[in-house]
Amino acid sequence: MPRKLLIAPSILTADFGRLAESVEEAERAGVDWIHLDVMDGTFVPNISFGPSTVAAVRKATSLFVDVHLMVSQPERYLDAFADAGADGINVHAEATLHPHRALQRIRELGKKVGLTINPGTPLSQLEALLPELDLALLMSVNPGFGGQAYIPGTTARLERLRELRDAQNPECLIQIDGGVKVDNVAAIFDAGADVVVVGSALFNKNPVQDNLNTFQEVLDATRHR
Ligand code: DX5
Ligand code: ZN
Repeated sequence: MPRKLLIAPSILTADFGRLAESVEEAERAGVDWIHLDVMDGTFVPNISFGPSTVAAVRKATSLFVDVHLMVSQPERYLDAFADAGADGINVHAEATLHPHRALQRIRELGKKVGLTINPGTPLSQLEALLPELDLALLMSVNPGFGGQAYIPGTTARLERLRELRDAQNPECLIQIDGGVKVDNVAAIFDAGADVVVVGSALFNKNPVQDNLNTFQEVLDATRHR
């Protein structure tokens, strides 16, 4: 079976005045998941939204709702985001003293279990918990904002993470988040990503369908190389 790259638009750069319509437009365009960036102004220097926005997005889509918690002590909010309709909950290894316990709680809540590390965090923090994961997320920008440039060193980390994943938990999906564009998505796919988050390259002045078509053309060309 040829590999298929899953595309998860981040709504962070979408028009929040028309959030449900933006999510419906992305689903109609053919994206695979919806990525929700929850920021608390402490773990990251920005504030985005909470469970009520997740619930609004849940109502607007049947796609997998992928919640990325950039929140200090995320264990305090896991139940609230599960109740809001998240399908997957991703916590940062740097945000909690007890990542294993937080992952266990997400599992108990019946949601897909994800762990994220920042660009400066050693892969060993993901490796230690790899057997527990459905989703391993490598940040390719320092978290907190959309529209940043992809950190080039991420590609080598991604290749190493794929080796670790293949050896320890082949079912776990690897996700890349931040600065994914038409000109780097093929290399990121080749390096081992299963899911890419795409924010400003999908939600911008052009229709989502047109932006997504450009990504698909590049990926189709990659497959036929
Ligand atoms: C950043 C977020 C990303 C971001 C992606 O902290 O986790 O999901 O919104 O946006 P782009 O694709 O514009 O970098
Ligand atoms: Zn994100």
